[in-house]
Amino acid sequence: MNIKEIISQLTLEEKAGLCSGGDFWHTKAVERLGVPSLMMSDGPHGLRKQDETADNMGINESIKAVCFPTGSAAAASFDRELMEKMGQALGNECQAENIAVILGPAVNIKRSPLCGRNFEYYSEDPLVAGETAKHFIKGVQSKNVGTSIKHFYANNQEHRRMSSSSCMDERTAREIYLAAFENAVKEAKPWTVMCSYNRINGTYAADDKKALTDILRGEWGFDGYVVSDWGAVSDRCTALEAGMDLEMPSSFGFRDAEIVQAVKDGRLSEEVLDTAVERVLTILERHLSGRDENAVFDRDADHELSREIAAECMVLLKNEENILPLDKNESIAFIGAFAENPRFQGGGSSHINSHRVESALEYANSKGYNVTYAKGYEAESNEPDEVLITEAVKAAQNADKAVVFAGLPDSFESEGFDRSHMRMPDCQNKLISEVSKANPNTVVVLHNGSPVEMPWINEVKGILEAYLAGQASGGAAAQLLFGEKNPCGHLAETFPIKLEDNPSYLSFFGEGDYAPYREGVFVGYRYYSTKKMPVLFPFGHGLSYTSFNISGITTDRTSYTDKDCVKVTVNITNTGERQGKEVVQLYVLPEKNDFVIRPAMELRAYEKVALEAGETKTVTFTLDKRAFAYYDEVLDGWCVPTGDYTIAAGNSSANLTAQTVIHIDGRKYIPMEITQDTLLGDLLHIEGVMDVLKPYLGAFGQDSGSSDEDAMGAGTSEMLEAMMRYMPIRNLVPFGGGSVSCEECAELVKKLKLVINE
Ligand code: BGC
Repeated sequence: MNIKEIISQLTLEEKAGLCSGGDFWHTKAVERLGVPSLMMSDGPHGLRKQDETADNMGINESIKAVCFPTGSAAAASFDRELMEKMGQALGNECQAENIAVILGPAVNIKRSPLCGRNFEYYSEDPLVAGETAKHFIKGVQSKNVGTSIKHFYANNQEHRRMSSSSCMDERTAREIYLAAFENAVKEAKPWTVMCSYNRINGTYAADDKKALTDILRGEWGFDGYVVSDWGAVSDRCTALEAGMDLEMPSSFGFRDAEIVQAVKDGRLSEEVLDTAVERVLTILERHLSGRDENAVFDRDADHELSREIAAECMVLLKNEENILPLDKNESIAFIGAFAENPRFQGGGSSHINSHRVESALEYANSKGYNVTYAKGYEAESNEPDEVLITEAVKAAQNADKAVVFAGLPDSFESEGFDRSHMRMPDCQNKLISEVSKANPNTVVVLHNGSPVEMPWINEVKGILEAYLAGQASGGAAAQLLFGEKNPCGHLAETFPIKLEDNPSYLSFFGEGDYAPYREGVFVGYRYYSTKKMPVLFPFGHGLSYTSFNISGITTDRTSYTDKDCVKVTVNITNTGERQGKEVVQLYVLPEKNDFVIRPAMELRAYEKVALEAGETKTVTFTLDKRAFAYYDEVLDGWCVPTGDYTIAAGNSSANLTAQTVIHIDGRKYIPMEITQDTLLGDLLHIEGVMDVLKPYLGAFGQDSGSSDEDAMGAGTSEMLEAMMRYMPIRNLVPFGGGSVSCEECAELVKKLKLVINE
C-alpha cells in the first residue's frame, strides 16, 4: 500500500471518513482505492468479537472465546514472561479471527479501591502497571496484531466517567498517572493508544494536545494512531487538532461532515487531516502485511494456558499454622456458591463469552480429592440465608477443614459505576464467621477485582486472594489449595483495613464533575508507608509454601552523580523445602529534605525468581536517574536532589530485609528568581553565595541584644542561625544594625543574581 499515493487520491470526504468508524468496530473501507476496513475488538483479557448487534457494555453476545485472568490478577503475577505468553495467545486468537487491534491493556492507576473498573486495571503503582502492560503489548504485537493501551489518561473512576475532570498538578500526572503509560509506550510501542472519556484539568482527554501530541508523540515517540474511547469525542475538529486521529464508534457521517466543512472554511488545516489519515492507514498496512491466514484459535489449549497463568497470579495472603496446602487424605468442605460457579471476570466492555468455565469443585472432583460442597449463600444476594448457612456449618463440622469461596458478586463491581463501600456482602461475611466457629481450620478463597474489608480476618487461618482470574480460575485455586502448585503472586495494590484509610478517601468521586486528586503523588503504599500506617495487607505482599531470605545487597559504588546508573545486586535463597518463586522488590527511599515533599519509598525495580529448595541466586538491577528523581515543575523535568538514598530490597513493601545507602551528587537547588524577598537560607548552600554575603552580615544580630543567652534563652546561636535562614534579604536593613542601606541591599540582590546565574 503506497500510503502517500493513496492520500493524494482521496477526496476530502473520504479522508474525513477514514477518521471515524464505519460501524461499532470497523474503520471505513475505500474500495475504489483498495483500502479495506480494519476491525478492533475488546480486550483486554480475552477476545470479545461481536458479529451482528454491537455494543460496548458487554450486553450482546460475542463469539465464544477464552477469558484469561483480568488485570487485577495478571499484575499480581509480577511476571513479565507470563504476560508475554498471555499476549501471544491473544495475538494469535486475533489473527485467527482477523482482528487488527485488541483494545487493551488497561493501565489506569488504582487510585481508590472503589473504582468499578479496578478489576481490569493492574496496580496502584506505575512501575508495575507499566511493566505488566509492556510485556502484554510485546506478546500481542509479536503476532502482528496491534494493541490499544487505554485509557489515556487519569481515568480512575466510573462515576460521571464521560464528563468528570481529573484535576491534579503536573508532578502528580507525570509521576503517577502518565508514568503508567510512559514505559509501555516508549519500550513496547503499542500500535494505538485509546484516549479516555474524562477531562484532565478541565480539558477532555480527546482534546488534550499536550498529552496526545507533545507528550505522547513528542516526548515518548508514539507513532501509531490515537483512537477515542467509544463516545469520548466532544468536539471533532478540536480533537483532530489535538492529535486524536480516529473517532469510534461510527458517528453516522455527522462528524465527518463537520470535518469537511471546517477544512472548507479554513478553520481546520487539511494537513492535520492528512496526518491523521496517514496514521490510520499506517496501522492498517501493518495489519495487512502481518496477516496470518493460518492462525487457529485453539480454545482448549488457551484454556489450559489461562489456568497456568491464573495459578501464578493468585496471592496467598495468610497461612497461619501452615493450614495450607490441604492434604489430599483430609476431608474438606468446599463452601460458598463461588466454589461451584466462580466469579472470574467483571461486567462491561471486557466481558468474555467464555467457551468453558472451570470451578474449584469440578477440578477437585476430577482429581478425586475428598471434597463435600455446601452453597452457603446466593451469589447475587446481600442478605444472609439462614438455611444455607446452617447447611454450611454442618458441612464444616463434618470435615477436617473448611474452605469458603467468597468475594464480590457482579452487582458489587463493574464497569459503569463505582462501589460505594469496600465491604463484601453481609451473607458472605456472616457465613465465614459461622463456618470458622464451627471449624477452627477454615480458609477463605476470595474472588474479587479490588480490595475488600475483612471483619473475620482473625477468625480464619488462611486466605487465598484469587482475584478475577479468568475462566480456569477454579482449577488454579484448587491446584494451589492442594499444593499441586506453590503460590507466587504478590499484591500489586495495598489492602487497607478500612476504606477511610485510603488516601483518596476525602475527595474521591469529587464534586459534580470536579474530581480533585488532592492526595497528589501519595497514592497507595506511597501514602501508607509515609504515614507508617497499619494496613490489612501491604503492597507487594504474598506468601509461599516455602520460605525465602533476601539479603546481601550491594551497589557497584557508594557515590554517584545523577547521570550515572546504579548497579544493585541482591541475593535470594530458598530456605524452605520445596521449589518456589519469589518476587524480589527494590525500593528507593530518599532522605528527607526541604527541596520537595516525597513518598517515603517507591518501587523502582522487581524480578520474579524461581528457586529450588536450598538454592541461592543473585539478582542484578540497574537503576537510572528516574529511579531517584521526582518531577520538578519549575525545571519542567526530572530532578534528582543531592543527598543520600537508601536502596532496600525485600519481598513486600513492608518487609525490606536488605538495605544499603548511596550518595548522589545531583541538583543542589532549583533555579529561582532572586528578589529582596528571597530568603537567605535558600541561597546559603549555593557555591559562591557566602562570599558575596559576608560583607553584609557583619552587624547581623549584634545590636539587637539578641546574642545575649539570657535574653533569648539557651540555644540562642541555633535560633539566630534559624532566624537568618528564614529571613528575606530585605531584612538586612532593619536587622543589620544600620550597616546595610536600602541601596546596598538592592546592590546585593544584583550581585547574588550574577553568582547564581553562573
Ligand atoms: C470502554 C473501553 C472499551 C470500549 C469499546 C468503552 O466503553 O471504556 O474500555 O474498549 O468501550 O467496547
